[in-house]
Amino acid sequence: MTHPKIFISRLIPARGLDLIKEHFLPEAWTHEMPPTREELLEKVRGVDGLLCTLTEKVDAELMDAAGSQLKIISSMSVGVDHIDIAAATARGIPVGNTPGVLTDATADMAFALLLSAARRVMEGEKYIRAGKWKTWHPQLLLGADLVGSTLGIVGFGRIGQAVAKRAQGFDMRVIFHDPSAHAVHGAKPVDLDSLLHEADFVSLHVPLTPNTKHLVNADFLSKMKPNAILVNTARGGVVDQVALYNALKSNQIFAAALDVTDPEPLPMDNPLLTLENCLIVPHLGSASQRTRDLMSLLAAENLIAGLKGERLPNCVNPEVYSR
Ligand code: DGY
Repeated sequence: MTHPKIFISRLIPARGLDLIKEHFLPEAWTHEMPPTREELLEKVRGVDGLLCTLTEKVDAELMDAAGSQLKIISSMSVGVDHIDIAAATARGIPVGNTPGVLTDATADMAFALLLSAARRVMEGEKYIRAGKWKTWHPQLLLGADLVGSTLGIVGFGRIGQAVAKRAQGFDMRVIFHDPSAHAVHGAKPVDLDSLLHEADFVSLHVPLTPNTKHLVNADFLSKMKPNAILVNTARGGVVDQVALYNALKSNQIFAAALDVTDPEPLPMDNPLLTLENCLIVPHLGSASQRTRDLMSLLAAENLIAGLKGERLPNCVNPEVYSR
């Protein structure tokens, strides 16, 4: 194939884009905002390769709009809940993602959120900007200590394990719930109820699947300690946000710190935004320059391999190769 048609749906870092351009002549979306659904359906028409991000819903309709020549879907993300993997597999299309390179950046963000919520950093910042800082006060904005506390990690894959490693440096006790994972970094496996009853911090590191949708619901939150802090750097859909709002508003738990919400962006009238004990940042888990550069490179490598008919370096549906 000499001139495959390629669409890149967002402004990706130059590292990845330049690598693709060494091989092919892609069309890349250059606007700040992602394409609308209509624009996307139009842009993918007749493409051999699609490089997308988590802002694009890649479902059966989109694959069919692209056409039967579509050979590769490469996402610049580790999470692939925005892609209908079964639909891609049914069409024999390999789907690539970018695992590994964002593990540390995401674990750092989980810790940044955990520390910020524990020590009420955002509330302190708002307090100053509101002109309320009149004196040092022995009881001002008292938060939680990390040392000696228990961190409960739900989902003990690469990122969950990297969070556990960081917790060791803070002298935290670490427990985790993940039936398919082995214990590392001194973390102890426990069942979910024990984790919720024991943890002072609960950090979520599961992918969003039908099984994990609203895993954090009213029942889950009712089992957490009143001093507990919930940290979510996984996916917004893992948390039932109405239940979370109720738990935070009634001080059933101490605080939440969210890198991800459902939907994204979170509408400005969402009640979570009215709460002092809910810290929210705009999905920045992997947002370091180096990490995004590496993600764009992995996504480019997957795209190039797929277009050349080679096995993707990182394929989420390898069963397409055994068909
Ligand atoms: C991913 O790659 O899935 C992350 O959520 C992006 O930050």
